[in-house]
Amino acid sequence: MSKLPGAQGAATQSSDPFVIDLKKIREDARKHMSDGSVTQSYGADRETVLKLCNDALATEIVCVLRYKRHHFMAKGINSEAVAAEFAEHAAEEQEHADSIAERIVQLGGEPDFAPDGLKTRSHSEYKEGSNLTDMIKENLIAERIAIDTYREIIRYLGDKDVTTRRMFEDILAVEEEHADDMADLLEGRE
Ligand SMILES: [Fe+2]
Ligand SMILES: [Fe+2]
Repeated sequence: MSKLPGAQGAATQSSDPFVIDLKKIREDARKHMSDGSVTQSYGADRETVLKLCNDALATEIVCVLRYKRHHFMAKGINSEAVAAEFAEHAAEEQEHADSIAERIVQLGGEPDFAPDGLKTRSHSEYKEGSNLTDMIKENLIAERIAIDTYREIIRYLGDKDVTTRRMFEDILAVEEEHADDMADLLEGRE
């Protein structure tokens, strides 16, 4: 098979939009090594993304605390099944918190676990609820708040930070399931 003329040189021509400047990438990687996984082509405003992530982290922590409280306080008809559901959700919110904290570190930031200001940083609220139906309602409200804010964050990230966006997309899918679970539980009680 004969070679197409010019086929070999095509990849190095700067007019080709798909050319990857490996030399520059390698140089930048060395120069900015302390930035960890955040390279020169990172398209988002890092400080903004870190702030969004830390607010989301606070939200998840508050959700863990609320579901834990509800898990231990669930009493009344069918409370065992509902308490188990609360425990499952608490564990999943903890997983979300961990993924977000990990991403914050990857982006060169510090995850904020300080109890001071947790309530202000969090999007959703810590509501105890006086009975099982109340607890389910409070969780449904909190999930709906999380869903809306995560959708906004995903929209903001767009293709500027695909990894963080994907993480939030995965978390959002679980929050939607959580909201659905709470709505189902509520249906049987009203
Ligand atoms: Fe969550
Ligand atoms: Fe959730």
